[in-house]
Amino acid sequence: MLALAITFYDVVLTVHILAVVVAFGVMFAYPVMDAQVRRASPADVAALHRLQVALGRRVIVPAMTVVLLAGLYLTFDRWSFDEPWIGATFAILFVLFGLGGAVFAPTDLRLAELAERGETGSAEYAREARKARLFGALSLVLVVVAIFLMVAKPGV
Ligand code: HEM
Repeated sequence: MLALAITFYDVVLTVHILAVVVAFGVMFAYPVMDAQVRRASPADVAALHRLQVALGRRVIVPAMTVVLLAGLYLTFDRWSFDEPWIGATFAILFVLFGLGGAVFAPTDLRLAELAERGETGSAEYAREARKARLFGALSLVLVVVAIFLMVAKPGV
């Protein structure tokens, strides 16, 4: 008979990966949501920006906090912060937290306000939308790098 030994470490690793899916999965769908709303329902662009603000606050930041807490447990239990793949991913996660607070939250709020005032054709709206797209793309690249580092564990 096959012995099934499930450890608490396995449970925390599952929570860690689940939180990664919840936090970052939706971010990979943003470009499609954005293009679809602009094409099929431009009057709803303000609601899209408000949705992104709510997703940031209620889904992405809480899930990233779970990624961090579970990651800390895994590190202290079996690994060490001396591992470069852990140190680098730790730094990436903090950059993502920083971008969330310093770029995404204020930019999405400003885009929502401008769209609600009917100013989606303004220079400021174009500038803020470009900023959101640029930093959005950067975040996705950082997430891909983080997943690669976590899976490949270079140096181990
Ligand atoms: C953007 C942030 C992060 C992403 C996308 C991410 C992703 C992942 C993934 C996919 C795994 C599973 C790897 C495997 O089983 O081969 C994993 C495992 C792990 N992660 Fe993260 N992680 C992130 C942040 C962190 C942070 C900040 C820490 C430490 C504080 C951390 C510590 C760990 C550890 C120790 C493992 C266990 C590796 C194992 O036992 O095989 N992670 N992570």
